[in-house]
Amino acid sequence: MAKPYDPKDFYYRKAKKAGLRARSAFKIDEIVRRHRLVSKGQAVLDLGAAPGGFLQVLSDLVGEKGVAVGVDLEPVRNLGKPWVRTAVVDLLAPDALDRIAALHPGRFDLVTSDMAPRTIGIKVTDEARSLELCRMALRVAGETLRLGGAFVTKVFMGGDFPVFKREVAARFDRVQVARPEATREASYEVYVVGTGFRG
Ligand SMILES: C[S@@+](CC[C@H](N)C(=O)[O-])C[C@H]1O[C@@H](n2cnc3c(N)ncnc32)[C@H](O)[C@@H]1O
Repeated sequence: MAKPYDPKDFYYRKAKKAGLRARSAFKIDEIVRRHRLVSKGQAVLDLGAAPGGFLQVLSDLVGEKGVAVGVDLEPVRNLGKPWVRTAVVDLLAPDALDRIAALHPGRFDLVTSDMAPRTIGIKVTDEARSLELCRMALRVAGETLRLGGAFVTKVFMGGDFPVFKREVAARFDRVQVARPEATREASYEVYVVGTGFRG
């Protein structure tokens, strides 16, 4: 039997103890380490970055010689690291790419997206909105990644999941699906990991 939903579960408490802003920090940590997606001195872009859990992990991994850019509808509180740059950006707005380029005009080695729509509880609508954000994340990755770069995006497993996976496969050498340990048992989210961006 599935465990009842516990908002303050093991990973929530572990994140609090470690000074992490969101339990999702453990998810990206597991994914980037397992797939060896990032190293010191690299540039990473995180879409849907607030409150900053992914960014805390990614900025530590790229270190002070790297760049970690985070954008979200909500502001990300200062992380106290000069190599982290954040801005309030609506990824569905027409100026989103320009706003990102203003933060870092160069290419990125890794683009991550944990974007999620405000859910309304109607499965088909929530899934469609989530997919719209995933496609936008893929588009941003397509415009900003260097050749050979990597992409990670959260996706809700719905009817169109295989279609989206094929869309990622068309642009990357390898596509894998990750379900990190910190994912709640009842959740139907997974992360699609694309490596070897083909341009
Ligand atoms: C699950 S939270 C991200 C948590 C984050 N990865 C962390 O570790 O702190 C999802 C985020 O997606 C953002 N989001 C949803 N729609 C967006 C959009 N159109 N543009 C930018 N961000 C968006 C939300 O504001 C929310 O902060």
